[in-house]
Amino acid sequence: MKVAMVGLGTVGSGVARILLEQAARIQQRTGGGVEIVHAIVRDPSKPRAVDLPEGILETSFDLIEDPEVDVVCELIGGTTTAADVVRQALQAGKHVVTANKALLCEQGEELFQLANDNGKTICFEAAVAGGVPIIEAVSQSLAANQITSIEAIINGTSNFILTEMLDRNVRYEDAVAKAQEKGYAEADPSMDVNGTDAAQKLTILAQLAFGTKASPKDFPVQGITQLALSDLKYAATLGFRVKHLATARLNNGKLEMHTQPTLIRDNLPMADVYDAYNMIQIEGDAVGKTWFSGMGAGQMATASAVVSDLIDLAVGRAQLTFPLLDLWHKEPNIPILPAEEISRRYYLRFQATDKPGTMAALTRILGDNGISIASCIQHESEVKTVSGPEANTIPLVIMTHVTTEGQMRAADEQLSSCGSILPGYLRLPIRE
Ligand code: NAP
Ligand code: HSE
Repeated sequence: MKVAMVGLGTVGSGVARILLEQAARIQQRTGGGVEIVHAIVRDPSKPRAVDLPEGILETSFDLIEDPEVDVVCELIGGTTTAADVVRQALQAGKHVVTANKALLCEQGEELFQLANDNGKTICFEAAVAGGVPIIEAVSQSLAANQITSIEAIINGTSNFILTEMLDRNVRYEDAVAKAQEKGYAEADPSMDVNGTDAAQKLTILAQLAFGTKASPKDFPVQGITQLALSDLKYAATLGFRVKHLATARLNNGKLEMHTQPTLIRDNLPMADVYDAYNMIQIEGDAVGKTWFSGMGAGQMATASAVVSDLIDLAVGRAQLTFPLLDLWHKEPNIPILPAEEISRRYYLRFQATDKPGTMAALTRILGDNGISIASCIQHESEVKTVSGPEANTIPLVIMTHVTTEGQMRAADEQLSSCGSILPGYLRLPIRE
């Protein structure tokens, strides 16, 4: 099978390394081998993390249409040039392998239709959870089940940053830079830390598992940017770990979806996932609970998923599976639960004015909105801040009993205008 690679950055270089360095293994597993015939990049003079055969590094997208090419591997990322590459490949009668969740989330419907129209396949194992074979698990291995719940840590960068901050005392900005150096982060790391990347991956899983075509704007998406080290420490004191958790679960015939930093009870498996590891907990009506875990980002783990797609294509497995998924999408669309109806406990962290009546004002607003307080932490600060916006303020943490997102949103408006707290208080859901 002959491959045109488009993009030879972090993931592309890893794919090329496996194909070149493990050629004998791949030859044995496919019968005929998988050969890179073109590697198309933006800047061919850049040093690459792989020794390529002479003459295959090129810049022209025309090579995608080379009649010799069977498969185009899109590994450039983004939703503009990458979309053109995928369209051009399918129209030229090539299969496509991609790791691009942003593209599939935004334009998947059109691209899968185009693939079907051209009798070709788009494989995307690497688009969700890096090296963890979760696309195959949801679309093949668990096909006997009605999946009832997916809960997942699926942004390696966020998990890495939270681990660095709490366990290694690294500052947030330094942890982001380290995630970039290690090749975990997206070209624009704000996609990782603002929750977009995890939300895009969740829409792909939700479509496979439930047939629901969701967009990240249809459900609550919150990133880790507002978290302080003190939040991670408060959570630990209370018996929780903060993780960026993506959830899609059936709730009275509707699909509850959210991707948010969440306080996870520290005895749950999901609380024990560190660094750039991902974990996906899937519950099915026959199988019960299953857990899938492994490196969710990084060069070789992601390349592992891309190369397994190439091997599936070479032996004809992918051509059988992925067109079938199109039938699944014709199942009735399970509607998304309106955000206001999502029900859970919350962690609230305020920077409250240290003066008479503050606690009364806050608890009155919560009480008026039917929100019950389960516990509260307020310590006297050893050093008083006397100037700047935090002057004469004090951190105050409240854990609520179960309440709805609608009640919390109603309280948010009153809290932000009550004058007893600094603007931008933090509200995180709790999973126990
Ligand atoms: P990357 O390191 O930034 O590499 C991008 C590659 O695409 C580079 O080789 C670049 O060429 C090439 N490229 C970009 N724009 C181009 C253009 N207009 N024309 C031709 N070539 C172009 O990105 P990456 O981290 O490998 O990510 C690639 C994809 O994998 C993304 O969709 C990402 O979301 C996905 N993914 C990444 C990971 C991860 O851990 N990094 C994990 C799972 C999925 P030059 O080298 O010449 O600049
Ligand atoms: N930037 C992504 C992450 C790469 O950190 O999870 C894997 O999709």
